[in-house]
Amino acid sequence: MGTAGKIIKCKAAVAWEPNKPLVIEEIEVAPPQANEIRIKIVATAVCGTDLYYLLKNMHKDSFPMVLGHEAAGVVESVGPGVTEYQPGDKVIPLFIRQCRECRFCKNPKTNQCEKAWGSVKDMTFQEKSRFTCKGKKLLQFTGTSTFAEYTVVSELAVAKIDPAAPLDKVCLLGCGVCTGYGAAVNTAKVEPGSTCAVFGLGAVGLAAVMGCKAAGAKRIIAVDINPDKFEKAKVFGATEFVNPKDHKEPISQVLSEMTGGGVDFSLECVGNVAVMVRRTRFFVTLRIEDCIITIPHAVFSVMLWSPV
Ligand SMILES: NC(=O)c1ccc[n+]([C@@H]2O[C@H](COP(=O)([O-])OP(=O)(O)OC[C@H]3O[C@@H](n4cnc5c(N)ncnc54)[C@H](O)[C@@H]3O)[C@@H](O)[C@H]2O)c1
Ligand SMILES: [Zn+2]
Ligand SMILES: [Zn+2]
Repeated sequence: MGTAGKIIKCKAAVAWEPNKPLVIEEIEVAPPQANEIRIKIVATAVCGTDLYYLLKNMHKDSFPMVLGHEAAGVVESVGPGVTEYQPGDKVIPLFIRQCRECRFCKNPKTNQCEKAWGSVKDMTFQEKSRFTCKGKKLLQFTGTSTFAEYTVVSELAVAKIDPAAPLDKVCLLGCGVCTGYGAAVNTAKVEPGSTCAVFGLGAVGLAAVMGCKAAGAKRIIAVDINPDKFEKAKVFGATEFVNPKDHKEPISQVLSEMTGGGVDFSLECVGNVAVMVRRTRFFVTLRIEDCIITIPHAVFSVMLWSPV
């Protein structure tokens, strides 16, 4: 490729400081170093987590920064030592690296790779950024930074995908879809014939609805304060819809009455601590599977909690 080994100038949405709008800037993207891959980003989505870190929880030392971690693209060039990927491969960047060697990577119950989290500081890999803008280093959010036309990632932070995959659609597999779907199918292990409640119908919640359906749930109650989301949730498999704003009683009481005492599985996909607490009171009483998959107070994990 003509650009291999050279600095690429391209556009990126730069977060110069917390809580301020992103600015479209021309940036320089250095060539990939050992075991790194430079990717032309073709499609990127905005995840709730990007906004959370921009608006609420990012340390000021993490700026300036390029956000974005839910994307798909094409490998432009590879650094020394990369053997598994070649220019032209279609890929999805991963914000949790997979070394495939540590005990966490080898354990089918988790994907929280030791090497991935070992070098993260304030959600960035500080020393690894290949971005500069106006003479300043830009940090790379979660080592991905997909709000740029080109990015450089570790070879551990990328998954090769089917060359026929439509990149504008599969970009959602980079975070929201696998988080919600996996939470229902792998973490909560939703059972056939069960009744589920999914709180929040963004990309994560809709994927959780899809996971509940795939697992054979009989009733899938979709809860959101935005009724425009219900039509989409129906397409993904939701069977009932509740807008908490339509009810005077707490949502826990509404669901309890709808289900004769409570749901079998509850998946929290909002990211609002108050919503979790309201549900938790209800579910502790009923001792039901409770899957919190959002990021309250910077807890960055998929967590299954079974109060007994
Ligand atoms: N654990 C992980 O790995 C992981 C991965 C991706 C996203 N997340 C987190 O998941 C959450 C959802 O992400 P998203 O991208 O789907 O967000 P989103 O903003 O697209 O969707 C959130 C939905 O919740 C609804 N909502 C807001 N307040 C509500 C309330 N009180 N009751 C019911 N519904 C309410 C909104 O109307 C919206 O439809 C965020 O907190 C994000 O940080 C976690
Ligand atoms: Zn690992
Ligand atoms: Zn995300």
